Formats: sequence, C-alpha cells, structure tokens
Amino acid sequence: MCSNRIYLSPPHMSPRERELLLAAFDSNWIAPLGPEVDRFEREFAAAVGVGHAAALSSGTAALHLALLLLGVGPGDEVVTSTLTFAATANAIRYCGAAPVFLDSETRTWNMDPALLAEELDACARRGKLPRAVIVVDIYGQCADYEPILAACRRWDVPVVEDAAEALGAEHRGRAAGRFGVMGCFSFNGNKIITTSGGGMLASDHARLVERARLLASQARDPAPHYEHSLVGYNYRMSNLLAAVGRGQLAVLRQRVRQRRANFEFYRRSLAGLPGIDFMPEGPHGRSTRWLTCVLVDPRRRGATREDVRLSLERENIESRPVWKPMHLQPVFAGCRVRGGAVAEDLFERGLCLPSGSNLSSDELARVVDGIRSVAAGGRGISSGRAARKVG
Ligand SMILES: Cc1ncc(COP(=O)(O)O)c(C=O)c1O
Repeated sequence: MCSNRIYLSPPHMSPRERELLLAAFDSNWIAPLGPEVDRFEREFAAAVGVGHAAALSSGTAALHLALLLLGVGPGDEVVTSTLTFAATANAIRYCGAAPVFLDSETRTWNMDPALLAEELDACARRGKLPRAVIVVDIYGQCADYEPILAACRRWDVPVVEDAAEALGAEHRGRAAGRFGVMGCFSFNGNKIITTSGGGMLASDHARLVERARLLASQARDPAPHYEHSLVGYNYRMSNLLAAVGRGQLAVLRQRVRQRRANFEFYRRSLAGLPGIDFMPEGPHGRSTRWLTCVLVDPRRRGATREDVRLSLERENIESRPVWKPMHLQPVFAGCRVRGGAVAEDLFERGLCLPSGSNLSSDELARVVDGIRSVAAGGRGISSGRAARKVG
C-alpha cells in the first residue's frame, strides 16, 4: 500500500490558529478560564446568533449540563433519536434518567416528527411525560423543527438541541443550535471546526448559561475561600484551546463551503453509478455536509456497504458505517424504542465518506475511484485504480 492515508474528517488548521494559540501561551493564561475563553464565547454566540454561550471541555459535557439545568434526574425519561452517537444517550444516563429512542425519518435521517408526536401523546395518556427531548442534527443537517417543536409545545416538554455535528447548518434561515431552550456543540477533532476537544452550551437564556458556567467550574460559590453548596463538575474549556477555537470560528463559513463542495464532487462523480444514493437534504434546510454519507444498495450495486468500506480500506482510505442505532447497542438494551426499522436500514447500508475540508482534488478522485472499482459480487479490487469493473 503506497498511497497516503485519507482520513474521514481530519482537523484543518490555518496559521491564524497557531498564532492565537502561541499568543495565549505567551500570556501565561494556561488555565480552564481566561480572556480567550471569554472572547471565544462572545464570538461564538454572535456567529450562531444566540444570546449567550459557555465554552466547555466537550459536547458531551454540554449535553450533561443542559439536562441537569432542566432538572433531569433519576426516574425521569428523556426522548431522543436512536440514530446518533452514544454521547447523546450517555448524557441522559449520567443524570440517572432513562433514554427513550425514536426512529429516523427518511427525508433528513433525523428524528421522525410523527413518531415524536405519537410518543408524547402516549406518554401523556400514561400520565408521565418525558422531562426533556434531545433532538439531534445528524451529519450536518438540522431536524425538521416545525412539527417537532409543535409537538413539544403541546405538552410543554423542553427541547435540547444536540447540534454537535451541525455547527454552520441552517433550517429556514435559522442557525443550528437555536431551536431548543439550549443548544450543544462539539469541537472534537473530527468536527467541522475543532479545538482538539471541546464543546459549547448556547442559549438565549442568560441565567441558564450562567448556571452552566457555575456547574462547569466545580460550583464554586462567591467567597474568598472554597465554598460549595452544589455538586459541580470540571467541565470548562482551556484558555489555550479557546484561542484555537477563535481562529477556527473565523473560517467556519469557508469550511462549510468546502464540505459542501466535497459532497457536490462525489455526487457528480458517482452520478449514474447504480446502487449508490446520497443522504438527502431536507426541503427547508441547508446542511453543512459535515460528512458525505451514501447508502449502498447491494442488489443494484452487487456489493454491500461493508464490501465498499473494506475495499476503500485496502486503498488506505478511511470510511465509516453510519451510526449504529442506540436501540441496537448492548448498553441500551431494554430501553423503550418507537419504530427503528429506518435507522436499522441506514446503519445496514449507510457509509460516511472522507469529508475533510482540506481534501485535495486528487484525494477526492482516489475515493471516487475506490468506490467505482468495487467489483460486482462484493470483492474490492485491491491493486490499482485503473481497473474498473463496475460503472
Ligand atoms: C451527535 C453527537 N452528540 C454529541 C457528541 C459529543 O461531543 P464530544 O465528543 O465533544 O463530547 C458528538 C460527537 O462527538 C456527536 O456526534
């Protein structure tokens, strides 16, 4: 194997991030607090169009704090999408609550609004409404918020938006992260912008964000000594990483354009190849195409998703199956689920392709060649991009 490895979604830094990081280092504000954190929070809130934001150590921390701020605790239920990364459901469990999983709709792959309405009606009939709903915006695309928010308003259930994968996306002209009472973001290494690890909790409610900051810094009461009336967490973002985040935030729009251009390249280059279909973009949204995802139809393609993945791997190209639904995960066995067949099918057939904003056109062409050269019958051609048996 001679070619360089092509990664799924590697970090994409520019000289500005390095400058800001070194300036923060030289200032000796090397702490989970500092002027870069304050600036990053202000600039982030302005970029998303939200009133306030608290910079945290991860997106998972943001989800955990959001649920705590809504009073989620043992004995509660929290409804969420089954098609998500485990962090969403883990945060529910951290609070001692039980996740309830809903299937995806095929239009956006996000939570099916009709199933949510059914679930909330059923909960109301049973006399126990969920304490919150976490709506996830998967792979850079917002959920269908009008019916989702209408269903939640009907029963007065608060919404937390898990926008970890969707910073920069829009739905009806409104930025991802602004649809719930709180929005949670991730700057993990594979995200559209990254601080290596980090997250943000954003809200128009100043009191919630203030409280998040308090809980995230060990809930220290105002006093000259160490005084605590609440259990707190060590969830604040480092000042050094906030400096990196500021540089990344300044190029977010470019990164969205670059990721959408990757998607367009794949779509054009694979058009007409039977058995490869792309994740749809809902009618009212603008996805960032954080990851370009395809569905592989084994009957039309003559190869399964796993055949394609392994064939790409032999070409030193990283791709990943779409999230395995939470209701199929051993750790969440026994949790209630409504539907599930759509998400199961997306997992079975879905593949995330290399989507970094720093992919070169040669690398993109290598991925396309790799997909086109998966032989009918499912075995990849491991040696050589010239051989094209299919397509
Ligand atoms: C949907 C979703 N929610 C939450 C997270 C957690 O974010 P973090 O890794 O920053 O904790 C991630 C990604 O990592 C994610 O994809």
